[in-house]
Amino acid sequence: MRDAIVRLASAAKAFSTPEGREVKALDGIDLEIDRNEFITLLGPSGCGKTTLLQAISGFVELDAGRITIDGEDMTDRPPYRRPVNTVFQNYALFPHMSVGENTGYALEAAGVGRAERTDRVRSILKMVGLEGMEGRLPRQLSGGQQQRVALARAIVARPKVLLLDEPLSALDRHLRETMQLELKNLQHELGITFIFVTHDQQEALTMSDRVAVLAEGRIQQLDTPRQIYDHPANTFVASFIGASNLFEGSSDGQTFMTSDGTAIRHAPATGSEGKGAAVALIRPENFFLATNADTCPALDVTVEQIVYVGSSFEVFGRTTDGRRLMAQIPASQRGAVGQLAAGQAARWHYDPASVHLIAAKEAA
Ligand SMILES: Nc1ncnc2c1ncn2[C@@H]1O[C@H](COP(=O)(O)OP(=O)(O)O)[C@@H](O)[C@H]1O
Ligand SMILES: [Mg+2]
Repeated sequence: MRDAIVRLASAAKAFSTPEGREVKALDGIDLEIDRNEFITLLGPSGCGKTTLLQAISGFVELDAGRITIDGEDMTDRPPYRRPVNTVFQNYALFPHMSVGENTGYALEAAGVGRAERTDRVRSILKMVGLEGMEGRLPRQLSGGQQQRVALARAIVARPKVLLLDEPLSALDRHLRETMQLELKNLQHELGITFIFVTHDQQEALTMSDRVAVLAEGRIQQLDTPRQIYDHPANTFVASFIGASNLFEGSSDGQTFMTSDGTAIRHAPATGSEGKGAAVALIRPENFFLATNADTCPALDVTVEQIVYVGSSFEVFGRTTDGRRLMAQIPASQRGAVGQLAAGQAARWHYDPASVHLIAAKEAA
């Protein structure tokens, strides 16, 4: 049994554009988010992530469907009466107020007395790594520190659910990666449900208990990061998350034949699943240039380009029927990669167990 804290049922919201078109920002969303879960809404710009968060916070009113939080119907409740808080990308602190005052603002508004306020502000600032900085003004902080204040301000009143709308997008890469881990630890420590929004798939995979992949107002897949990556439900998810080599064709349950006659072996299908028309997925890191891989099947490829990206080489090649493929070879195998040159024939091996089939009905 799931212990759901947030439930959306058939949530729908459409906007009309200035050109008179209708955009379905939420096109029938059913979603149950567990208590203390770190869930991420992931999808391209415009897919409805912010609209979904704002439907939960109450800043967007649904056209249809219902929302409950902790068993209480929120659908018609104004934002200030919902047990949620939001952290935005542009954190908009009050510039004339100190870190302590910014953080304690919600408590003061809620009538919490000075002594308790001071205590709670101090302990929350410690949690976000800003101990002793109560007296500073926002402009005396770095971008990362300001975002920490925004976070502290949002959690100090202990909302049941914290909504985070691309809170790390404005930070540089190194700081963003540090904050990703900190946020995850903080969520664990606080025991608050986090609903996190990002368009960055790496960020989603790193941080989340579960990821909901959205496109055009619909949930494409809701699953753990590993399932999303290893077993994408459709070709949209396969292409959006990570790099992918996709082949159209059909399988007899053991061997997949592409429409142009390339055979790809895969783990034997159980039951009728995995038989018939499908799309086969091989992730670039699942190709290898092994010399001792006699037992592993391979694809014949003409190498076109080799790109060094630091931790690995991205090798681009073309099959005899003109399909462009990518293999990702760890930098530790620089010896084997060194043997390759553009224009040369190569055999790219793979383990049949690493081939994932997407049934044709899901492929769209
Ligand atoms: N207030 C609005 N008025 C008109 N269209 C809107 C409004 N808010 C969002 N949209 C449209 O709804 C779709 C989803 O937007 P949004 O939820 O902001 O996407 P995301 O956060 O995933 O980038 C987009 O096509 C966007 O243009
Ligand atoms: Mg958005």
